[in-house]
Amino acid sequence: MVCTMESDYKRILVTSALPYANGPLHLGHLAGAYLPADIYVRYQRLKKRDVVYICGSDEHGVPITIAAERKKVSPQSIVDEFHYRNKEAFAKFGIAFDYYGRTSAKIHHETSQEIFLRLHKKGIFKVKTEKQLFDKKANMFLADRYVKGTCPVCSNPEAYGDQCEKCGSTLSPSELINPKSAITGEPPEYRETKHWYLPLGDFQENVAKWIETRKHWKTNVLGQVKSWLSEGLADRAVTRDLSWGVPVPLEEAKGKVLYVWFDAPIGYISATKEWAVLQGRPDLWKLYWQDNHTKLVHFIGKDNIVFHCIMFPATLMELGDYVLPDNVPANEFLNLQGNKLSTSRNYAVWLDDYLQKFPVDPLRYYLTFNAPETKDADFTWQDFQQHNNSELADIMGNFINRTLTFAGKQFNGCIPERGVTDELDKQMLAILQDAPQKIGDLIEEYEFRRAIIALVDIGRAANKYFNDQEPWRSAKDNKSKCATTISICIHAVQTLALLMQPFMPESAARTWAMLGFTGNIQEIPWDTAGDCLLTPGAAFGPVSILFRKFEDTEIQPEIDRLRAISEAMFPAPATEKKEPETPKIKYEDFAKLDLRIARVLEAEKVEKADKLLKLLIQIGSEQRQIIAGVAKYYTPQEMIGKKIVVIANLEPAKIRGLESNGMLLAAEDEKGEFSVLMPEKDLDSGAKIR
Ligand code: MF3
Ligand code: ZN
Repeated sequence: MVCTMESDYKRILVTSALPYANGPLHLGHLAGAYLPADIYVRYQRLKKRDVVYICGSDEHGVPITIAAERKKVSPQSIVDEFHYRNKEAFAKFGIAFDYYGRTSAKIHHETSQEIFLRLHKKGIFKVKTEKQLFDKKANMFLADRYVKGTCPVCSNPEAYGDQCEKCGSTLSPSELINPKSAITGEPPEYRETKHWYLPLGDFQENVAKWIETRKHWKTNVLGQVKSWLSEGLADRAVTRDLSWGVPVPLEEAKGKVLYVWFDAPIGYISATKEWAVLQGRPDLWKLYWQDNHTKLVHFIGKDNIVFHCIMFPATLMELGDYVLPDNVPANEFLNLQGNKLSTSRNYAVWLDDYLQKFPVDPLRYYLTFNAPETKDADFTWQDFQQHNNSELADIMGNFINRTLTFAGKQFNGCIPERGVTDELDKQMLAILQDAPQKIGDLIEEYEFRRAIIALVDIGRAANKYFNDQEPWRSAKDNKSKCATTISICIHAVQTLALLMQPFMPESAARTWAMLGFTGNIQEIPWDTAGDCLLTPGAAFGPVSILFRKFEDTEIQPEIDRLRAISEAMFPAPATEKKEPETPKIKYEDFAKLDLRIARVLEAEKVEKADKLLKLLIQIGSEQRQIIAGVAKYYTPQEMIGKKIVVIANLEPAKIRGLESNGMLLAAEDEKGEFSVLMPEKDLDSGAKIR
């Protein structure tokens, strides 16, 4: 038995992760936390359930301030820009939030501070004074992403102070080997500071007990949660020494703000408050957050699991008067043409850009069909084109189109009267009758992929039914049988239109209009989708192509654009390279090379030379300029502050008219992985290599 809405739930509160307002949205966002939630919500609305869908912009945290620094503007102007841009992009993709808030809103600051104070008054926080990394030059503590260094787990030299993106480990800045300030590139020093910690270890038992009751959760989610629990939960600081964020509401914490992962999930609550105000019932939010008959569902990507399944529920448990999530159906990641998405390298499909070239629904279709529900999935343009053409155009669109065109010719554009039904007719009608329950159950269980496959299967069955009944034949010798067939086909079009709604709302509405219905399709209850709602004799509307095919000429440029970027990211391995025999040398030969450790002081691109960086380096007390062919692999920003190895006694040379006084050492392997050589320890510049 599928548990649809368990009888003791009276309402549903759905949230999607609040995206950081520091950049535009791409396909990965949509596939992870928004499209599945939107399908779920649209379905629940059609089931006439009381459902509220909340989201908004996450406007605090280091990702925002770093974006602001990079563009040399204020954090406020960054979040203003992307809050509105993202809100609009979601609207264009039909993501139907009831409310899209933002965490810079006053009500959010107040709500977060109030929750912090309640916990503080209960004596829940541990206050610790300890040494933290401080950048003297920038005159600030280096929280989270403001520190970069080598990951202690996998040795990735580019790990951040909160996380290593290569191995996924969660880190604290002090765990990094060779930490460097992300602002100045300087090695930071330690200074004392005071912070408020959520003692998650104390909550472990309660969290674990609650997780035991979540047997219905997805295995990828439970797996991650259990591994966190078995490692043992550690205290987490919920304050930061930063200037951008929700100020900590304590006199003794002046100048500090709440940790972004403390305030952001509270954004769901504060956005619900704003929604309630708009409903003219300011207290209505309490019903959704504080009444046990609410089913709370958080849609997120897998990198957010620990916050939504452990940290935020633990906070809510301590408050005691909030509901906990019934489910957190987190998705895995979406890759792109075989590689990880990279926003900094523009290796992504941006929603704005997509919409200028292609319609919305095929993307909603393909991202659902190919959703990363249980494991990472790969978006390829070829696969997108193929599924659009063969399923949407050839099956769904074709069936709807041929049915209405045929009826137009044979029955004057009107819905024919149904006569006696034969075995095939009955089978088809049974499929239509069962469809709402079948697809609905899958949606209730967050099986959106299987649900959309079941939808296309109905289109497939309907196409086969049309073929098997051969109405073009009966049109000549058995008009009443022909009328029955076409009446059932139009009934199938109607059922498809209604069941298409959660997945492809725009196409559903267009099909509805083609059928001649004038009312709002969204008002028809889901459960009646399989019934025949047609009036014989009624005329249907003008027919047009529902899903067009995508041509190679439109798809190829997209593939080419991404390939060019990925080749720069991962250069193709040279084929069958035979290592040349190198003659043996004497130590004296080696000793002729003056190899030194140097520190990169400045780096910039060489104009009109896409491979070259101009570096100013420090070797002991001397500064020099070198030109290095590393621009395809390192941004100037990434080179600044790095310690590298150079040949110091190489004859100076002119490269592109610029003086190069030395050469850095780098290596590239067969896979095309490229790295500048950097010492593992923080050696002084000028140190000699022996
Ligand atoms: N901004 C976060 C991210 O993009 C998600 C925040 S979800 C919330 O990863 F619950 F904290 F709001
Ligand atoms: Zn790592």
